[in-house]
Amino acid sequence: MSDPGDLRAFLAEAWQHLRRGVADAKSPARYPVFATVSPDGTPEARTVALRRADPQAGVLEVHTDTRTPKVTALRATPVAALHVWLPRARLQIRVTAQVEILTGDAVSDSWNQIPPASRVSYGTEPLPGQPIDSVHAYDKPPNRDRFAVLRCHVSAIDLVHLYTVHRRAGYARADGWAGQWRAP
Ligand SMILES: Cc1cc2nc3c(=O)[nH]c(=O)nc-3n(C[C@H](O)[C@H](O)[C@H](O)COP(=O)(O)O)c2cc1C
Repeated sequence: MSDPGDLRAFLAEAWQHLRRGVADAKSPARYPVFATVSPDGTPEARTVALRRADPQAGVLEVHTDTRTPKVTALRATPVAALHVWLPRARLQIRVTAQVEILTGDAVSDSWNQIPPASRVSYGTEPLPGQPIDSVHAYDKPPNRDRFAVLRCHVSAIDLVHLYTVHRRAGYARADGWAGQWRAP
């Protein structure tokens, strides 16, 4: 571990885990919990796969189907919280982000990189969450028009490291990610 009192190193460590989540499907950072607020104000959380982590830009990306309820929620309230728990590192990462919903030409590069077998995640019929008559009464045709990239512009990060002596710090884009130690 680097100097435990180094705020910047603590943040860099968190981004390293997030980048690993993108590259390594076995990393626990691969599957964050992604929480939104529904149009009626109800909190909603679900697992997603992390597809991009860019520390310089402060951006995380997730892929989804435009017809899922999370997109309806984000159109009304374009804010999300992402949560990751890394058991081996004993690190909790909490992220707050403003979410941009990208579709159409803006997502061509991302779509082209998705293996054909995985494209079926975007286009389920009937629409995701709708009642169906029996367990497998749905189709999964790939539908490019329903593919969306959720570009999450990170606004704040809260880290908790459980160790002999715990550490907690908060970081905000607004102050250039300077960071502030917090009581755990
Ligand atoms: C391990 C795992 C990974 C998932 N990855 C994604 C994902 O990357 N994007 C996505 O939209 N849904 C993903 N899902 C499905 C969501 O958890 C959720 O069931 C679905 O998107 C509908 O969510 P909503 O009704 O809240 O919009 C994943 C589920 C699991 C269990």
